[in-house]
Amino acid sequence: QRPCHVTVLGEQYLTDHMTNISPTIVSKLPLKLHTQPSHPLSTLRGLIESHFPSYTHLSSLSPLVTPYQNFDLLSFPKDHPGRSVTDSYYVNKDLMLRTHTSAHEVEVFGRGETKWLLTADVYRRDEIDGSHYPVFHQTEGARIVSANSTGMKEIEEDNERLAAHLEQSSIEIEDVPHLSPTNPCQPAHDPKHTELIAKNLKLSLNSLMLHLFAGRVGATAQNPLKVRWIEATFPWTTPSFEVEVFFRGKWLEILGCGVIYQPTLDNANVSNKLGWAFGLGLERIAMVLYSIPDIRLFWSQDPRFLSQFKQGEITTFKPYSKYPACFKDVSFWLPEGQMLHENDFCDLVRDVAGDVVEDVKLIDDFTHPKTNRKSLCYRINYRSMDRSLSNDEANSLNAQVVSCLRDRFRVEIR
Ligand code: PHE
Repeated sequence: QRPCHVTVLGEQYLTDHMTNISPTIVSKLPLKLHTQPSHPLSTLRGLIESHFPSYTHLSSLSPLVTPYQNFDLLSFPKDHPGRSVTDSYYVNKDLMLRTHTSAHEVEVFGRGETKWLLTADVYRRDEIDGSHYPVFHQTEGARIVSANSTGMKEIEEDNERLAAHLEQSSIEIEDVPHLSPTNPCQPAHDPKHTELIAKNLKLSLNSLMLHLFAGRVGATAQNPLKVRWIEATFPWTTPSFEVEVFFRGKWLEILGCGVIYQPTLDNANVSNKLGWAFGLGLERIAMVLYSIPDIRLFWSQDPRFLSQFKQGEITTFKPYSKYPACFKDVSFWLPEGQMLHENDFCDLVRDVAGDVVEDVKLIDDFTHPKTNRKSLCYRINYRSMDRSLSNDEANSLNAQVVSCLRDRFRVEIR
């Protein structure tokens, strides 16, 4: 039976059929790594903020939002998969952990902010491996102007200034048209205005990419920083784009962005304005800038990790020795007719083993042809980042996983 209350950030909440927030997740909520002085995520936040000095910088909004804020105000369809309990964390049906910083757009525009950045922890249920973690950090940025000649003049002047600066920089941009049949202008907008806004968005973000990466790759005229724009879709922007940067031999997905869908601004009571918004994931960028090999390290309290960093400085992480991995298999039959979502399995493993679990892989998935019962086998890699784990410890963690699995999902161990 489910307890009827959960305590989250010091407040008690009623639980219901949607409640799926786990103790591991609850323990992350107060940490706010992006505000911890000298933490790599905090330095990266500062670096982005320093590129937008005239913007309001926000970084302390509560992660608890309503599904209405996270989805409906942003025009997500009612059947969007992101709303499901397998993808998102719910305190109860009326309260959830934000899955993206866009959840605050309407609220911040509603306060009258027109140029702002917001950095925060966001939560998504996911598999377990070196680059996925159910909590990560995003910076949202947005700019809106009056939908009249004054607003457009402001944008045009800014575009000239930004274009002149980019012209002198070592950057090679692979662009897509501002508008296309698959990435259309909104009915409420004059296409000329949309073009100017999209151009301002692209210039602003190309210039941010230079600020974040150019020095790090030693970009020169012969070897420019490569940035590529791709068409995208988001329910609350159109046209929409994604930005990728070529870094150490790979295209990295950096951010999503677009021209804000007018109903979003209507919801914020600023119908007479238009503009753009972007959202960027901090971990992925910090991992490459600092050469941090495993996403769990951001959560490490080990002085061998934390003492390597200084606020405002990007330095190369020196890995301390990697401790041996310890693989354990868990193989079981599900009760007849029952399914088990991989994210449910992963949250259970995290609740037992915390950050000692490095990776979880499904290695066998079998349905008995006669009985129709399903059998699954997961291989769990137990490895601490801070110390050497004994085989006994791994066995005992694995035994706890097995017993939790029996209690929670009534499986039969094979
Ligand atoms: N919120 C989107 C994401 O999580 C990014 C985004 C922000 C896209 C703002 C468009 C506008 O991926």
